Amino acid sequence: MGASGSGKTSMRSLIFSNNPASLTARLGATIDVEQNHVRFLGDLVLNLWDCGGQDSFMDSYLTTQRATIFKQVGVMIYVFDVETREMGKDLEYYRDCLAGLQQYSPDAAIFLLVHKMDLVREPRLTAFQRKKQELQDASGDAVISVLGTSMYDESLYKAWSNIVHTLIPNAAILTKHLQTFAGACNATEVILFERTTFLVIASSSPTPTSLDTSLELEGTTGIPKLDAKRYERTSELIKAFKHSCSRVREEFRSLEMELYDFTAVLDEMTRNTYVMVIIHDPTIEIAAVKLNIRLARRKFE
Ligand code: GTP
Repeated sequence: MGASGSGKTSMRSLIFSNNPASLTARLGATIDVEQNHVRFLGDLVLNLWDCGGQDSFMDSYLTTQRATIFKQVGVMIYVFDVETREMGKDLEYYRDCLAGLQQYSPDAAIFLLVHKMDLVREPRLTAFQRKKQELQDASGDAVISVLGTSMYDESLYKAWSNIVHTLIPNAAILTKHLQTFAGACNATEVILFERTTFLVIASSSPTPTSLDTSLELEGTTGIPKLDAKRYERTSELIKAFKHSCSRVREEFRSLEMELYDFTAVLDEMTRNTYVMVIIHDPTIEIAAVKLNIRLARRKFE
C-alpha cells in the first residue's frame, strides 16, 4: 500500500523480478491490484499484492473492495515517499487502511517503509526519526515497524528480509539447524538466502541479527567484527553478480572466496535456498565445507 509514485512497483521489480534500479523509471502506474506469487522454501508461497496508489483506487480499496483487500493479510507494507508534499493525505489513507486491517486481519504485522531516503538532503537520521515519530503518532496503539529504505542501496534488502522473516513459520527451527550446521563446520556464521530474491531467510547468529543494523558482533576469541550490513550487502552483490552472469548467458551456481582472514563458501542448499558459510579458522578446507553442505541438503530440503 502507499500513494501513487511512492515506489511500490519499483521495489517489487527490484527484489522479486531482479530488474536493476535504472529500469524502474519506465514503470507505469499500477492499475488496481497486481498480484504476484513467489515460491519461497518448498511449499511456502508468498502472495504479494501491489495496490495501485491513485486516489480512485485507494477509495475503492477502502469501500467496495474492503473485505477482499484486507482479509487474510499476513503483513501490510505501507510505503511513504520521504519527500512527499502530501503527507497529510498519505496519513489519512494510512489511518483508513489501518482501520481496515484491524477489522479484517487484526494479527497482521505492519511495516512502514520511509522510502527514497537517497533524496534526503538534511542528515538522513534526523529526517528518518522525524518521519518515524509522525508515523508512530498516526498509528495509535498498533504495533508497527518503521524502516528507512532506498532502492539505491542495501536498505531495501534489509527491510524485505525483515518482512519475509516474519512470514516464515519455522524460522526459529531453521536458526537452530543452522547453528548445528555452523558448529559442524567450525564456522563463524552460516546464512540461508532465498534463491531468486537472495533475501536472508535465517542465520546461525544468536540474535536474529540479521535484522538489526545497530548490532555489531564481536567474537570473544579474536574473531574480527562482523559488519552489521553484511547480509544486505551480500544479497545486493550476489544479485548484481547473477545479473552479470545472465548477460553472458552463464548460470550462477556457487562461489568460493579465500581472503586474508576468512573464507566464504556460497552454495545451493535446497531447491529454493543458498547457504553461505563464513569461516575464520584457516585449518578448515573448502572441500570439507562443501561436503558438509552436500550432506546437510536432505535435512534442509
Ligand atoms: P503506483 O503504481 O501509481 O501506485 O506507484 P508506485 O508506488 O508503484 O511507484 P513506482 O514504483 O512506479 O515509482 C515511481 C518512481 O519512483 C519511479 O520513477 C522510480 O524510479 C522512483 N523510485 C522508486 N524507488 C526510489 C528510490 O528509492 N529513490 C528514488 N530516488 N526514486 C525511487
